Formats: sequence, structure tokens, C-alpha cells
Amino acid sequence: MSTADRSDADADGTAVALTVDGDQVELSVAPETSLLRALRDAGHLATTGACEQGECGSCSVLLDGRMVCSCLVPAVTCASAEVRTVTSLCAPDVADALVAHGAVQCGFCTPGFVVAIETALRTAGDRVLSTDEMHEHLAGNLCRCTGYAGLVTAALEVQRARLAAGAGRST
Ligand code: FES
Ligand code: FES
Repeated sequence: MSTADRSDADADGTAVALTVDGDQVELSVAPETSLLRALRDAGHLATTGACEQGECGSCSVLLDGRMVCSCLVPAVTCASAEVRTVTSLCAPDVADALVAHGAVQCGFCTPGFVVAIETALRTAGDRVLSTDEMHEHLAGNLCRCTGYAGLVTAALEVQRARLAAGAGRST
């Protein structure tokens, strides 16, 4: 379906009310519209799509607290859901650490990694993750540019700093 066709379909679509980054929104979606497409069509452009097949993780969001590939979630199933995107999840400490460790190059994967890192840190709570464990947490997200060392190092550095500050479950 072309972009024009998709827009026409969405104009006559089903109204879905949900919360995105704390704001109540109502989306008009066709049955086949993914949450990724619906978010982007509604102007939430920070969430990026690449493969749109559940392979790369760039479209990751939290859906009712659970990380999902938004390209795989039909938007019509998201009525009353709470969606958190990279927009509200990107804490300055994560952004700074990613940049400091050379983990942002083309940047296409970055929104998904920010969501994945926050999810890993929330899941771990006060438990210190090993390098291997952080690798595992981020394994669903692909980066073609950086290798993964900088991404993992940045995530571990943020975790250590937050735990030292007593804020392991922040944001
Ligand atoms: S765009 Fe959703 S996993 Fe690649
Ligand atoms: S920075 Fe380019 S894909 Fe990750």
C-alpha cells in the first residue's frame, strides 16, 4: 500500500484512544496499521522504523510497561494502552553516555537502544548487570555502525552511576 493509499485508509479508520508519553491521543487507524505507523502518522517521529518486520528493534516502545516492536503491534489493539516512546524515556544520562562512548553514529538505531537500555535498567532494578547480561538485554536491537561495545559500556556506566546515586529505577 502506498503512503497516499495508507493515509486515505486511515482517514476512514477506527478511532483508538490511548496515552502516548503521558498525553491522551486519539488515532484513526486502518485494521492493518501498525502502532509504529500510527505513531509516526500522528507526529511522533522520534520512534523510527527500519525493517518493519520485527528484526531490528529500532521501533521499540514500551506498551503498558513491556518493550515491544511497535511495527508488529496492530494499532487497533492499543485502545486504552499506555505507550512510552523514546521521547519520554530518553534520560540525559543515557544520551550523554551513548555519545561519550561513540555509540551514536548514523543514529538510526539509537531510539530503539534508548528504550532497550531503559528497559534493561528497570528490569535489573538494584541488581548490577554483568557485561554479558547487558549484551543479552540489548540483543534484540541491531546496530550496523558501532559494534556493540560502546552501547553496552554506556548502558553499564549509566547503571553504575544510577545505583551509586540511589536511582536505579529512574524515569
Ligand atoms: S522496524 Fe520494527 S523491528 Fe525493525
Ligand atoms: S548508529 Fe547506525 S545503525 Fe546504529
